[in-house]
Parts: sequence; structure tokens; C-alpha cells
Amino acid sequence: MNETLKIIDNRRSLRGYDSREISPEHKKWILHSAFRAPTAGNMMHYSIIEVADQKMKDKLVKTCDNQPFIAKAPLVLLFLADIQRWYDFFEYSGVSDLCKERDIEYITPKEGDLMLASCDALIAAQNAVIAAESLGIGSCYIGDIMENIEIHREMFDLPKWVFPITLLCFGYPLRDDRDEREKTRRLPEHLVYFKNKYKRGNMKEFEAEYLERYKDEKDLFKDVSNFGQRVYTRKTGSAFAAEMRRSVKVAISDWVE
Ligand SMILES: Cc1cc2nc3c(=O)[nH]c(=O)nc-3n(C[C@H](O)[C@H](O)[C@H](O)COP(=O)(O)O)c2cc1C
Repeated sequence: MNETLKIIDNRRSLRGYDSREISPEHKKWILHSAFRAPTAGNMMHYSIIEVADQKMKDKLVKTCDNQPFIAKAPLVLLFLADIQRWYDFFEYSGVSDLCKERDIEYITPKEGDLMLASCDALIAAQNAVIAAESLGIGSCYIGDIMENIEIHREMFDLPKWVFPITLLCFGYPLRDDRDEREKTRRLPEHLVYFKNKYKRGNMKEFEAEYLERYKDEKDLFKDVSNFGQRVYTRKTGSAFAAEMRRSVKVAISDWVE
């Protein structure tokens, strides 16, 4: 394996950070790597906000489903799907007048633009993660930033066509145990990688993989009778998932209106 493959192979999410600040040189490379990511049409449909204010980090702990490590991360970056910059530019460039003159519809952003901008933002985020990892800096995604859209819009002054797709926490590890730590398990390849056509999975095999992962956990089936019921009651059907659905629905309906 070359160094890049080793870094990808060894990466794990890091949720406990040394209090040291990220060095300016390291921060520069993390951001540079994000900006070098592929981007649809080379249009960079995303923006990044560094959350430097400790009070804002403390608030994010609560608005992102009570995750205290956010407050302790020395570097917190908010990745935004952003079509606003282009629409500000279209306005500036008189595009709506041009459309009127030509009697054609001036299209405002729709669901597809949100998907594309979210792809751009996430690809940039993952470049930042790998760059950080190569510098000995761990990271963790916070998907819960998609919750509480009203609060996050106000906190960060987000206009209509900007959507917070992910938050990334970065920090140096408390100790460098990268070569000792166990890797997180993944599904067997044949359940997720197909040739030419999609294949529905064998559910017994799928279940067996997760039972193996959680084999040492006590009370695995405390108030349910199998693993699927556990995942549904704790995650997919939980209160935080409901809040994410509500919040994203509001964001999408405002975006396309
Ligand atoms: C889109 C996305 C959202 C995530 N949100 C959270 C989160 O809110 N809190 C958290 O602790 N980890 C979060 N994670 C990290 C995952 O839990 C983690 O990647 C997964 O358990 C696999 O572990 P690994 O990254 O160590 O291999 C998120 C990861 C992704 C890709």
C-alpha cells in the first residue's frame, strides 16, 4: 500500500481531541485540500464557515443532538451547499432581465441544484478529512447539523439558497494510536458492490454481519426482538431522525418555492 492508501485505510472518526490549536500551516492545507476537490462544472457550489466562536460551538452541541465533543474540537468547519453565490451573480449580471427580453422562464434553484451543491460540499469535506488525516489530525462528521434549520440559519446568517449539509470537527488525537487501533467494520463487498445491475441483499447475511459487530454488547435486544427492530427504534424512527426530516423538509420547501 502507498501512503495515501494507508491513510484512507487507517482513518477512523475521532471524537476526543487534544486541546492544542490546529497549526496555521495545517489549517491552510486542510482548506486548500477542500478547495482542490472536484466540483461540478468547476462552479464550487459550496461555502465553508469556520466556527471559531466558542459560544457558537457550545450552542452547536445542543442543536446537533447533544454531542459535547463539538465544543472541544479546536477546529470546526461548517460545509454549506451554496447556490446563493451564483444566483447573486445572475442577478448582478441581469440574467432575469435577459430572460424577460427573450420571453423565457428565469429558473430559480430546485431540488436538483440542492443535490448537486450538496455533492460539491461533501466532496470538499472529504478532501479536508483525508488531508487532515495525513497531517496527524483526526476528524468527525456531524450530520445532525441538518437539524434545527431555523436556529442554524439565524446563527450563521444563511440566506435562502444555502443549506448546512455537514459539520466537521478536527483536532489532534489525545495520543497517536493509529497503528494499534482496530478498524471499523464494513459490510462485505458483495452486499454493496455490483456489476451492471443493482442486487437486493440477502437479509440473513446482512443481519449476521451486524450481529457479529455487536456480539459483546449487553441488552442488545432489550425491548425488541431482533437487530432490525433495534436499529429502527434507536435510529431511523428516533426523535433526532424525526427532527432531521422536519428540518430538511422545511429547507427544501423554502429552497424550491
Ligand atoms: C454524513 C455523516 C454524518 C455523521 N454524523 C455523525 C454525528 O452526528 N456524530 C458522530 O459522532 N458521528 C457521525 N458520523 C461518523 C460516523 O458515525 C462514522 O463515520 C461511522 O460510525 C464509521 O466509523 P469510522 O468513521 O470511524 O470508520 C457521521 C458520518 C457521516 C459520513
